[in-house]
Amino acid sequence: MLSEELQRDIRQATQIIRSARHICCLTGAGISAESGIPTFRGDGGLWNGKRPEELATPEAFNQNPQEVWAFYLARRRKLKTVKPNPGHHALVTIEQNANKFTLITQNVDGLHATAGSQNVICLHGDILIDRCTHCHHQRRVKLDPDEHKNTNSDKIPHCPLCNAIMRPGVVWFGESLPPEAIQSAHSAATDCDVMLVVGTSAVVQPAASFATWAKSNHATLIEINPESTPLTHETDLHIPLKSAQALSKIATPQA
Ligand code: OAD
Repeated sequence: MLSEELQRDIRQATQIIRSARHICCLTGAGISAESGIPTFRGDGGLWNGKRPEELATPEAFNQNPQEVWAFYLARRRKLKTVKPNPGHHALVTIEQNANKFTLITQNVDGLHATAGSQNVICLHGDILIDRCTHCHHQRRVKLDPDEHKNTNSDKIPHCPLCNAIMRPGVVWFGESLPPEAIQSAHSAATDCDVMLVVGTSAVVQPAASFATWAKSNHATLIEINPESTPLTHETDLHIPLKSAQALSKIATPQA
């Protein structure tokens, strides 16, 4: 049973979202946690004892592409066993009922699209893309459970066109975000009147800056996160619940 204060805050968040002209939602790894994907900075965030910042860099890839690919292939394999959770589905409902809705995600797992979200900006790329390090040819890999023998082998993929080594189609630390993603996210953060921030530690830039930017443009800032973050003191409402529970209640008030 939720406290009266929390119930009141959820009612308030529901009303703000229902009367919004343009809702912008920024999500992070926390929204996929209840699908079984570990967050980066929580328990299970280490891979073979290494932090993502040690593996998700061009330097790490140049030094040891085998290890970096093993990290990403393990994450791809994990995706075969997971599906969107009620938090992802609630955002679809919110989008369907919204006047205008833009979803900016830092996640590369594709679960928002799988759930049915339409207007999604993937700031950090897509883990199911292979991109050639030489000719930049891209291809999307399938997650068919029966077709995973080659991805299980942790073999480094090579470009079918030029045979150079391929890399995952994600953004690494020290790399620029895709310019069109930044542009679209910036426009949405400028235009929105409600910024809903869900399941991100808000420590990675420029992603977190879209929330502060929206707030400085007079958007109402609502944060859903069981923990506090560097954004919390700026929020109009902080709902300290897991995203599946909080978003389900907001999307479908009787839930
Ligand atoms: P983090 O792992 O840094 O933060 C996850 C956040 O989700 C934390 O603040 C948790 O408190 C919160 N959380 C955990 N479970 C939750 C739940 N069930 N409901 C709601 N919130 C929950 O993940 P991100 O903020 O997404 O970048 O990390 C940002 C970026 O850093 C990632 O995109 C990735 C990473 O290194 C790159 O790889 C470039």
